[in-house]
Amino acid sequence: MKVFSKISEVTEWRKLTNQQTVSLIPTMGALHQGHGFLIEEAKKNSDLIIVYIFPNPLQFSKNEDFDEYPSLLPGALEKDIEFCRKQGIDAVFAPKVEEIYPNGIKKITTVEPNPQLLNCLCGKARPGHFQGVLTVLLKFFNFIQPNKAFFGEKDYQQFLLVKQMIYDFNLHIEILPVKIRRESSGLALSSRNKYLSDEQKIQSAEIHQTLEEAKSLILQGKPASKIVKELNKDYFEYFEARDSETLEKKDKLPLRLFIAARIGKARLIDNIVVE
Ligand code: PAJ
Repeated sequence: MKVFSKISEVTEWRKLTNQQTVSLIPTMGALHQGHGFLIEEAKKNSDLIIVYIFPNPLQFSKNEDFDEYPSLLPGALEKDIEFCRKQGIDAVFAPKVEEIYPNGIKKITTVEPNPQLLNCLCGKARPGHFQGVLTVLLKFFNFIQPNKAFFGEKDYQQFLLVKQMIYDFNLHIEILPVKIRRESSGLALSSRNKYLSDEQKIQSAEIHQTLEEAKSLILQGKPASKIVKELNKDYFEYFEARDSETLEKKDKLPLRLFIAARIGKARLIDNIVVE
């Protein structure tokens, strides 16, 4: 497995592999089986798989958890590289912040995401977040020039915004969604689950349970807008029913339910399709 830290190394590798189908899995590290799921999907249909590991400061606001992000802990990168080696990945690109943002992040050009998809859910709750996500992805797409890129449905709004950027900027990359991988309790795997105590983990399982409960009530014919109000919890940041393509609020099937919740230090998100 190749391990690169410089942009020049990865672009050189891509020149040498230009006849092959390259799949990219973008990550911020602290890799877990959720990321492993993206790798499994990528393996089904690619010649080569490259994982990038880059905790991206541009997508965190000042009061968020960037400095404590689990992949920045000592020894975390080595563990992530080992994880990729075991999964049979062809190349890992793990650059330092200075390599990606040589002039810092304050004065750089950023991507303005599609406003309809942006101004709700996490886009509303985390101003500037998706500008940071799309900007860093556009940079890595440029370095790596992948044929395909895989994104988890856990971050469903992110997946839609990336797909829209690909369309609006005429990029020749196929964006593929991958289903959410969960613990046996139903809790969606996330790097941020590391922040949870055992007790908080039990509480976190309620997020998926609430989604399932709401789903079955909506399938019985109850209006989604009423159900999300009835099943809302005080630690939910939002609980909403929206369209899976446009993210417009929706009462009738098919629709998708979205939750963001704060449990201790962790901000957790999840969603489920109802159809
Ligand atoms: P990160 O949180 O590391 O997630 C990387 C990818 O793994 C995302 O596409 C995410 O949706 C997917 N993923 C995480 N947990 C998952 C789970 N339980 N099941 C399925 N997929 C899961 O998302 C980011 O990084 C960043 O915003 C990034 C796209 C890398 C840009 O910085």
